[in-house]
Amino acid sequence: MSFIDFRSDTVTLPTPAMREAMAAAELGDNVYGEDKLTSELESRFSALFGHAHAVFCPSGTMANQIALGVLTRPRDEIICAAKSHIYCYEGGGWASHSAVSLRLIASENGKITAQDVLSNINADDVHFPRTSAVALENTVNRGGGCYYTLQEVTEIQKVCRANGLGLHLDGARLFNALVASDELAFAHGQCFDTISVCLSKGLGAPVGSVLLLRNAQMYKEAMRMRKMMGGGMRQIGMLAAAGLYALENHVQRLKEDHDMAQRIVKLLNGLPFVSQIMPCYTNIVLFDVNLEYGTAQDLIAFLGTQHIRASAINNSQIRFVTHLSLPSYAVERLETALQEYAQQVHTN
Ligand SMILES: Cc1ncc(COP(=O)(O)O)c(C=O)c1O
Repeated sequence: MSFIDFRSDTVTLPTPAMREAMAAAELGDNVYGEDKLTSELESRFSALFGHAHAVFCPSGTMANQIALGVLTRPRDEIICAAKSHIYCYEGGGWASHSAVSLRLIASENGKITAQDVLSNINADDVHFPRTSAVALENTVNRGGGCYYTLQEVTEIQKVCRANGLGLHLDGARLFNALVASDELAFAHGQCFDTISVCLSKGLGAPVGSVLLLRNAQMYKEAMRMRKMMGGGMRQIGMLAAAGLYALENHVQRLKEDHDMAQRIVKLLNGLPFVSQIMPCYTNIVLFDVNLEYGTAQDLIAFLGTQHIRASAINNSQIRFVTHLSLPSYAVERLETALQEYAQQVHTN
C-alpha cells in the first residue's frame, strides 16, 4: 500500500506534464545570465508582484537569508514573530550570514501587527541594536496556515516606511494566501522591499524559490550574497521550466488543497482524543491531542501502521498539510485510520 503523506507540501512530486516541460527545457549557464527560462521565470515574477528584479534561489531558506542580509548591516536588529520560519527553522542563519539579532514577537498564530512593530523599534541609543527591518511570513506555517490581509500588511508597511525600516516577506506559501483571500499579487508586492516565494511547496515544483527585490541596489547585493552562499547555479532551465509550469497551472488549484484541509478539520471535530484545532484558512491543519489518550508521537506512530504520514510539532501538536500529490481518497483513508485510533484509545 502506498503512503499518504500529509507531512508537508514540500513532498509534492512533479506531475507528468511538469516533467515533460522540464525535459523540453532549453538550457544555458545562469551564472553567465544565459539560461533563458530562468530569466523568463524571474521576469514573470517581477512583473506579477511589481518588483524591479527577481533572483532564482535553490531554497526558501537561502532566499530569506539573502533578503535579511540585503535589508540590514551587521549588528542591526530585525523584528519578526517568535513562530517565524526564519527564527525557528533556518539554523540561526541570520546570526552568521548577516550578524544581526532578531526581536521576537510572541503571538498565538504567528502573526504580528503594526502596533507590535511600532512598540518594538529601538530608540536611537548606542546601547541598543539598530532596528532596521521587519520580516513577516504569509501564510504562517506555525500559525496553521493563517494569512495576512492586504490591509494588515499595508498598516505594517506604513509603520516601516515612517521609521525607515525595510520590510521582508517570507512568502513561501504566498499564493495560498492570495487564493484564499482573493487579493492581488501586485498589491501585496507593493508593500514589501523583498519577498521570497517557494516553487517547491504547494506549487509542486521539485526545487527553487524566487526572491523579489524592489530596486537595483538590492538586486546587486542579493546577487553578491547568493554567489557567496554557493547559490549561483548553472544549467537550471529545467528547474525554471518546472516553476513556469507551476505558475501557469498550479496556482488556482490551491483552492482544492484548502477544501481538503477543511474536510480534515471536520473529521477531527468530535474525535475524543483531539483537544484543540487551530482555525484553518488554507492548506495546513494544526491540532492538539489530549495527552490522556497518548502523545502526538503515539498517534503518528499509529498512522504510520496505516501507511499515513503526518508531522509532530511537539509532544501534543500534530500537523497535516494538504497538497497536489495527495490522491483523491486521502481523506477517506485518514478518516478510517482516525476512527480506528479513537476506538483503540477508548478501549485501552
Ligand atoms: C514558511 C516557510 N518559509 C521558508 C521555508 C524554507 O523553504 P526551503 O525548505 O526551500 O528552504 C519553509 C519550508 O518549509 C517554510 O515553511
